Amino acid sequence: MPQKVISIRPEARSAAAKAPRYDDGALADTLGRGMRDLRISVTDRCNFRCVYCMPREVFDADYKFLPHAAILSFEEIARLARAFVGLGVKKIRLTGGEPLLRKGLPDLVAMLVPLGVDLTLTTNGSTLVKHAQALKDAGLDRLTVSLDSLDEATFRAMNDADFPVAKVLDGIAAAADAGFSQVKINMVVKRGVNDHQIVEAARHWRDSGHILRFIEYMDVGSTNGWRMDDVIPSAEVVRRIGEAFPLAPVEANYGGEVAERWRYKDGAGEIGVISSVTQAFCRDCNRMRLSTEGSLYTCLFAQAGHDLKSLLRGGASDDDIRDQVAAVWRARSDRYSEIRTAATPGAKKVEMSYIGG
Ligand code: GTP
Ligand code: 5AD
Ligand code: SF4
Ligand code: SF4
Repeated sequence: MPQKVISIRPEARSAAAKAPRYDDGALADTLGRGMRDLRISVTDRCNFRCVYCMPREVFDADYKFLPHAAILSFEEIARLARAFVGLGVKKIRLTGGEPLLRKGLPDLVAMLVPLGVDLTLTTNGSTLVKHAQALKDAGLDRLTVSLDSLDEATFRAMNDADFPVAKVLDGIAAAADAGFSQVKINMVVKRGVNDHQIVEAARHWRDSGHILRFIEYMDVGSTNGWRMDDVIPSAEVVRRIGEAFPLAPVEANYGGEVAERWRYKDGAGEIGVISSVTQAFCRDCNRMRLSTEGSLYTCLFAQAGHDLKSLLRGGASDDDIRDQVAAVWRARSDRYSEIRTAATPGAKKVEMSYIGG
């Protein structure tokens, strides 16, 4: 699907378009927020059709995914990543679509390792049995796996690809065997679909060494038919689990952490809740998102991205690229989740599978 893109280079002139020089000073957006995380989508394709992300009616056999020539090469991604790290980025997360569908992904991981940031990946887990060891060997630090239900019928209905729970569990086990000792498990909760599985999931992952996180169902993109009534507030998740297994709050690992942490009082580990809808965390939002085709998005709910690919392919220098990115960040004022109303989901927004979670 063609996405709206803002050209940072007004005409196809030489690439050094007119961003003020980045002077090594602290980089802050219009709301005083620093840049810390970069999420890089490496493919817009996925082998699942999760109902809340890539509904099959839209992402069908006729859907036009990006052609190979349009997507950034690993060399281009690594070059951009270096520019972001030069501006203060400390964490890079590889996303998709499903990132492990991108051929040779461990090679990209190996190219990013020398940047010295926290390097992590979000996957649906479907091919982890095959890829976990190569990812570890390439130097990936951490792994997040999406798994919305342990109940077979519920999971298959949610991934809408008839994909079995057991294969994802095998993938998580393979990751642990490969040395990812603490995997994060993401569970998007949709009322009436998988909320009956909340306590069951908590029971399953307690004491496993892994961390289960519950994500409020969000109005990302324009195709999932989101309604506020479908959202289970995190407070309810914490209450339901706490009734079965008493919980206590835990301090954030770092400023701007998305998940709010809770630990089991009996020492069986921790869970996280991500409350983008009921408790927006825009105030500390330090994330940039790079799409598969090299557009830069300053918000998960953005309606347009900034075209970096033309800069890359138009001969821009590393300094030019860094200056342009700094200029985009400095102009940033996004706070979508704080100003969301029942009406805002109607706006045309970029799809999650295109931009990555
Ligand atoms: P760390 O382990 O702390 O690195 O967290 P993570 O990167 O595994 O997950 P993160 O907390 O970044 O994101 C988990 C989920 O939260 C994502 O997949 C999204 O669904 C949601 N999320 C992440 N960042 C944002 C954001 O900036 N805005 C909104 N609205 N949701 C976000
Ligand atoms: N609401 C909340 N989370 C979502 N994800 C995908 N679409 C949505 C949505 N509409 C989650 C995926 C994955 C992460 C990248 O984002 O399940 O765990
Ligand atoms: Fe694929 Fe992840 Fe979207 Fe599901 S949520 S369709 S696994 S990209
Ligand atoms: Fe950041 Fe936009 Fe999410 Fe707010 S809604 S936390 S600004 S990505």
